[in-house]
Amino acid sequence: MLQAVAAGAYADGALERELGRTSLSPADRGLATELAYGAIRQRRLLDAWLDQLGKVPAERQPPKLRWLLHIGLYQLLASDRVPPSAAVSTTVEMAKRGGLARLAPVANGMLRAFLRRREAGDTLPLTPEQAGDPATALGVRQSLPPWLAAELLGWVPPERAEAFGLACNTPPSLDLRVNRLRSTPAEVCAALAAAGVEALPIEGLPAGITLQGRSGDLSRLPGFAEGHWCVQDRAAQRIAPLLDPQPGERILDACAAPGGKSTHLAEWMGDQGMVLALDRGEARLRRVSRNAERLGLRSIAVQHGDATALAQEQPELQGSFDRILVDAPCSGLGTLARHADARWRIDPAAIEELVVLQRQLLEGLLPLLKPQGRMVYATCTVHPSENSALIDAFVADHPSLQVQQSWQLWPGEFAGAGDGFYAAVLEHQG
Ligand SMILES: C[S@@+](CC[C@H](N)C(=O)[O-])C[C@H]1O[C@@H](n2cnc3c(N)ncnc32)[C@H](O)[C@@H]1O
Repeated sequence: MLQAVAAGAYADGALERELGRTSLSPADRGLATELAYGAIRQRRLLDAWLDQLGKVPAERQPPKLRWLLHIGLYQLLASDRVPPSAAVSTTVEMAKRGGLARLAPVANGMLRAFLRRREAGDTLPLTPEQAGDPATALGVRQSLPPWLAAELLGWVPPERAEAFGLACNTPPSLDLRVNRLRSTPAEVCAALAAAGVEALPIEGLPAGITLQGRSGDLSRLPGFAEGHWCVQDRAAQRIAPLLDPQPGERILDACAAPGGKSTHLAEWMGDQGMVLALDRGEARLRRVSRNAERLGLRSIAVQHGDATALAQEQPELQGSFDRILVDAPCSGLGTLARHADARWRIDPAAIEELVVLQRQLLEGLLPLLKPQGRMVYATCTVHPSENSALIDAFVADHPSLQVQQSWQLWPGEFAGAGDGFYAAVLEHQG
């Protein structure tokens, strides 16, 4: 799986494919998942160790050996479930079986050297003084790409940057949103408890509950097929209510797939009115229809199209929506804990392109809003260019808009914060 991800595959898809080729027990699947995701998240930290332990820098090691050493070293660093001797011998055995027999003694030597150094109390140069600068120290400590560590320290104080890094390396919570048209949080918690799964309400979220521990295939849990709940992170559950949608209104969800927020909007409105769920991803859009159907929601209309061009392509829609949600495509820097490989995928140039698209979305969608209407812009990132700076510039160019509220939620900001999200509520003054 690590090889596949290094070659460009997405971590979750690669994991599913690899696990599909095995017949591992649920416990072993859990361990495999933890090791693979952990080793991918900690790539920079693990490389820093390999640089110290080997004669050749990590990036110049044969890739197969590098990823194998990552798995071995990750277990030594982070797993209290695998005894060190087992981690070393399994790594060496895998090297032999995986066509690296000649390098098996190297793997053995490096992992044992790590154990000796740890025993002697040696660590990596992880303080700013040792590493040369604060960004390198933070980047290695929390395994963040150099550009992100440096940017973070420009955006927030060091403690907040550290908490962000830590949150990105902590397995995220698994939260559900109860469909209150069909059930209640208490009923869903009781049904899950009867199936041996503990779930607890999330404070401050009327429909939010969180699962304790991992539960395998969620679609098999009670209430899923019946549309009593869907999976949605606690921070994402804060977005749809910001529109304050009223029964009977016309709402546009301009970037809707896979439908987490369209379905929330429809539930919030008692399924009375119309939510136009637009997206340019056709396959992803099918998931909106499936989710709406499973949750029993009839007020959602699905449309394939480009939101930046909708006002031009369908001029009859101009000024026709009471509320518009722009849940924009973004760099996803608020969800790095959920997507183990994302931090190695995104870069500043891609973010600049996203900012252009985000601005085009806002400009293209504004003419569709009714006078006195409300537009909510949201992202799951913490990058100011995609968030506050973008909204400040947009509002400055449209004096008819007022920012009614805006906030940035940071991963790790407080215990149980959930994903990082930004939201701005804009009101049209006519
Ligand atoms: C953050 S995701 C939306 C998540 C969704 N709102 C939810 O809660 O489930 C962003 C979406 O924007 C869509 N998108 C990107 N560019 C678009 C465009 N120009 N017009 C419409 N949709 C677009 C992507 O296909 C993607 O599904």
